[in-house]
Amino acid sequence: MLTQAIARYPVADFASEVLAGLTKLGQKELPSKYLYDEVGSALFEVISVLPEYGLTRADARLLRYHADEIVRRIASPVLVAELGSGSAKKTRWILEALSRRQRTTYFPIDISPTALAQSEKELGQIDFVSIVGYERPYLDGLLAVAASRHADEHLLVLFLGSTIGNFDRPAGEDFLGEVRRILYPGDALLLGTDLMKPVAELLAAYDDSIGVTAAFNLNMLARINRELDANFDLLHFRHAVRYNEQERRIEMHLRSTREQTVEVRKAGFRVHLARQETIWTESSHKYFPEEVVQMAERTGFRCDAQWVDEEWPFAQSLLIAK
Ligand code: AVI
Repeated sequence: MLTQAIARYPVADFASEVLAGLTKLGQKELPSKYLYDEVGSALFEVISVLPEYGLTRADARLLRYHADEIVRRIASPVLVAELGSGSAKKTRWILEALSRRQRTTYFPIDISPTALAQSEKELGQIDFVSIVGYERPYLDGLLAVAASRHADEHLLVLFLGSTIGNFDRPAGEDFLGEVRRILYPGDALLLGTDLMKPVAELLAAYDDSIGVTAAFNLNMLARINRELDANFDLLHFRHAVRYNEQERRIEMHLRSTREQTVEVRKAGFRVHLARQETIWTESSHKYFPEEVVQMAERTGFRCDAQWVDEEWPFAQSLLIAK
């Protein structure tokens, strides 16, 4: 695989975002993108096979069952770009369906070199598919892919796994608008969104019985210890999950079990935490199917088709740029 690399998150960015989030007035927070270092990415792979967490399996099932129809609905010839390639396992179904129709170039775009290497391992052997990885933030990578296409080539952008749910709703919609501005009319975006389901199921999905999600969350503090020379004592923090009804989202927090002061040496600050105070690390918004259709309309797409999994409410929506 060819990889177009630019810098990872520089330590200075990480340090300044940790400083901003932990010294914020009111609710302390840390950006969820920092959950995914090598350890966090490996833990997320385990989460995706947990019995309580049906999201990844539903996403993959829909792609497996409907790949031929998805491919029939998109214009040809087409280049495929995936935002946040992850391990790219489920992308196989789309690439295989496409490769029966045309030679295909697949551009995984991910800030993580580990994720790009994993996509190459998973998808590198499919006949008639070549892979060009972009180690960049999503929109930078997509701009580079769009700039490299020939006049007759369409783009199919994959944004799977309900990653959009980790943005606040307005930011998610802005992001779709940004993607649309890079596309030409007739290009396609396949968007995966986790749907609303009983709250007890949601809470279990983010607080599994063997503690993998807890480890995934706590690893954020361990990462800050490793990379920014901090002294978080993980024994004095607990994984905490809440459902926010107004925002229709799951929130992951890290709760301090005692009053404590932590030093983050490479970012040059100390933070004081009260007993029971939390650090908010991630939101995972849940959608209604028609909400996705409306969001698409507002951002310059039309929803051409939508498939919903019967076992675990999750939608794949094929959006066509207007
Ligand atoms: C990557 N993202 C869609 C996952 C989610 O469900 O929000 C991340 C995750 N966090 C805890 N479990 C899974």
